[in-house]
Amino acid sequence: MTEPMTGTAAWVLERCDELTRHTARDDALERVYLSPEHAAANTAVAAWMRDAGLATATDAAGNLWGRRSAAGTPQQPGTRGEPALVLGSHLDTVPDAGRYDGMLGVALAIAVVHRLRGTALPFALEVAGFSDEEGARFGKALLGSCAASGQWDAAWWDQADADGVTLRDAFTAFGLDPGRVGAAARRPQDLVGYLEAHIEQGPELEALGLPLGYVTTIAGARRFVLTVTGEARHAGGTPYARRRDALVAAAHLVTRIEELAVDAGGLATVGELRVSPGAVNVIPGRAELTLDLRARTDAARDALWGRVAAAARDIARERHVSIEHAETHRAPSTTCDERMTAAVVAGIAAASPEFAGRADDVPGLWSPAGHDAMAMAAVTGVGMLFVRCRDGISHHADESVEAADVAAALDAYTAAVLALADK
Ligand code: GLV
Ligand code: MN
Ligand code: MN
Ligand code: MN
Repeated sequence: MTEPMTGTAAWVLERCDELTRHTARDDALERVYLSPEHAAANTAVAAWMRDAGLATATDAAGNLWGRRSAAGTPQQPGTRGEPALVLGSHLDTVPDAGRYDGMLGVALAIAVVHRLRGTALPFALEVAGFSDEEGARFGKALLGSCAASGQWDAAWWDQADADGVTLRDAFTAFGLDPGRVGAAARRPQDLVGYLEAHIEQGPELEALGLPLGYVTTIAGARRFVLTVTGEARHAGGTPYARRRDALVAAAHLVTRIEELAVDAGGLATVGELRVSPGAVNVIPGRAELTLDLRARTDAARDALWGRVAAAARDIARERHVSIEHAETHRAPSTTCDERMTAAVVAGIAAASPEFAGRADDVPGLWSPAGHDAMAMAAVTGVGMLFVRCRDGISHHADESVEAADVAAALDAYTAAVLALADK
């Protein structure tokens, strides 16, 4: 098969296909922070960046960066004195992932740079391939972009993965120096803004019959690990009056969490459940569950957490177990920047026949899913371009986009950069 031309939608889609090779599993896509697959993906994407005319570097948190000067020549990422517009998204995945969440945004950004080869701009251009957005390994999400936006918290170092490897030890094993993580932080005065293209991960654009939209606000999630402790005893010899079954208590809690979230108009997900000791004839003595909470506003999300915590106390009392919680992640909701958003809207209007001359009709969407843009908003204005995905499916191998929508996104993204350059 012949290789598609660089900077085309076919090229973007082929890059997303190619990155599926860098996976921890033969039967599914899984690429978590600081893994061998993460290193291999950085190497592959760096080659594509260099091919687009960017100089590349990996920063002190494992994020991959590429950069060209305003004039259009390769320039060391992070160069000071010539502020850069950053185009980015993430290269990590959830377990059993689709191939577009994150990767589509990085591949589109590189394709935009290809298209702008030979075009001088009033700012430098950087492409970021963030190393951890999902938080699939350590529970805390947005680790890569938090490092890049100077928001690293030393409290995270002791968070451990499922094998007990701490974030600190994983840094060292990857060849990074934990003591140097502060060097990944970008300064506001070195940045013009941050744009991110991403699949929508929801059904709104499909329902509207439109390929593209922009993001108004991004919800901030809170994540917890809840630990239910009862007593492991014999499945035959323990009558119900004597049982303190951690899993039955956890099951009641899970269904109660859903009821509370539905009542509050929020979103609550228990995505992991670990039961121990884990034997067919032993009453579970311990159950550990993860909880992900989201809502339209941080206040609504926090109120929902208050109700979940109260329900956990009630269930613990009724079932004679203890229920403890640890918070692993908290992000504030983020409002996209007016100037960056105006550029995205202008880009969509310029590139889509649906909106010819009608920028006001471009749909603005609330994003219940988290994005690196939330972290980058701490150091610069952010704007986001959403691309329709089939059935709104994401965090699943069936994630899918139409080539025509990717072509529209590429035109709109390029036009958005040119709008910021006022060309
Ligand atoms: C990111 O994918 C999230 O969990 O919002
Ligand atoms: Mn995701
Ligand atoms: Mn994502
Ligand atoms: Mn119940």
